[in-house]
Amino acid sequence: MTAKLISGAEVAAEIREELKTRVKNVVAKGVKPFLAVVLVGEDPASMSYVTSKAKGAAEVGMHEETIRLPAAASEAEVLQVVDRLNKDKNVHGILVQLPLPKQIDEKKILDRILPEKDVDGFHPINVGKLLIGEPDFLPCTPHGVQQLLVRSGNNPEGKHVVICGRSNIVGKPLAAILLQKKRGANATVTICHTGTKDIAKYTLQADILVAAMGVPKAITADMVRPGTVVIDVGVNRIVDPSKEKGFRLVGDVDYDAIKEKASFITPVPGGVGPMTVTMLLVNTVRAAERKAGIQSPE
Ligand code: GUN
Repeated sequence: MTAKLISGAEVAAEIREELKTRVKNVVAKGVKPFLAVVLVGEDPASMSYVTSKAKGAAEVGMHEETIRLPAAASEAEVLQVVDRLNKDKNVHGILVQLPLPKQIDEKKILDRILPEKDVDGFHPINVGKLLIGEPDFLPCTPHGVQQLLVRSGNNPEGKHVVICGRSNIVGKPLAAILLQKKRGANATVTICHTGTKDIAKYTLQADILVAAMGVPKAITADMVRPGTVVIDVGVNRIVDPSKEKGFRLVGDVDYDAIKEKASFITPVPGGVGPMTVTMLLVNTVRAAERKAGIQSPE
C-alpha cells in the first residue's frame, strides 16, 4: 500500500478562503482583526515562523504587527510589551513566540496575556476550559491536526488515536480535543511518552497515529500497522550540506518506509506546519468576531 498524502498546504488554503469571508464580515462591523506577535531574539526557526504568521495574516486581510525585542531583553521589558498589548483595544490576539531566551520565565509571560487575547490557547484558564469541553481558543497545532483529519476524510470519531509525545503545546491538548464528546472528536485516546514501556505495543493498535516527540524519525515502519493514518507533527532540522541553507527538515516518522504501510500520511514540510499558522489566524478572527458581536462557527 502506498499512502495518500494529506496536504496541509491545501487544507490550510481552504480554511484561509473561509477566513477571508469572516474577516470581511467583521470589518463590515467596524472591527479589523489585529494579531500582535512578540519575537524576542533572532532564533532562525522562530524568525521563519513569525514571517509566515505575518504573511498569512496579510493574505486573509487581517492587521498584523511584530514587536521585536533583542535577545538580551529583560523579563520586565517583555511583560511591559504584553501589558501594553493587553490594554490596546485594537489588538485582538497576542502571541509571544517561544522559546524565549533563558533569562525570561516563559510561564510568567504566558500567564500575563489576557485569556480573551490568548490566541495560542496556552493560558491556564484556556487550558482548563479546553479540558472541560468549553474552549474559547483551541491551541493551534492540535487544532490543525484535528482539521487535517476531518477534512481529509479521516474523522477521528470512534477511532483509536495514539499520540506519541505529551508536551503542553501538542500532545496533551490534542488528547483533550479528541476525547471530547463532540463532532470531529469522540475518539479513544492513548498517549505514549518517554516513560512508556514498549511504545510499539500501543502504536500497533492505532487507527490514527500522531507523532509529536521532537525526535527525528523516532517512529519506524515496524511500529506501524498497515492502513494506519499517520500524522507527523515533528519539525527537526538536520544538517545537509547539499542544501543551500545547510539543513533540511525531517519529521518524527521514517516517512519513506512508513508511506508504504500507512493509508494516509502528512509530509514534512507541508503537512501540519501550514495548519498551525492558519489556526492562529482562525483564533484571531474568533477574538475579533466576539468583539464585533458575531457568533463564531464551531
Ligand atoms: N513555538 C513553537 N510553536 C509555537 C506555538 O505554537 N506558539 C508559540 N507562541 N510559540 C511556538
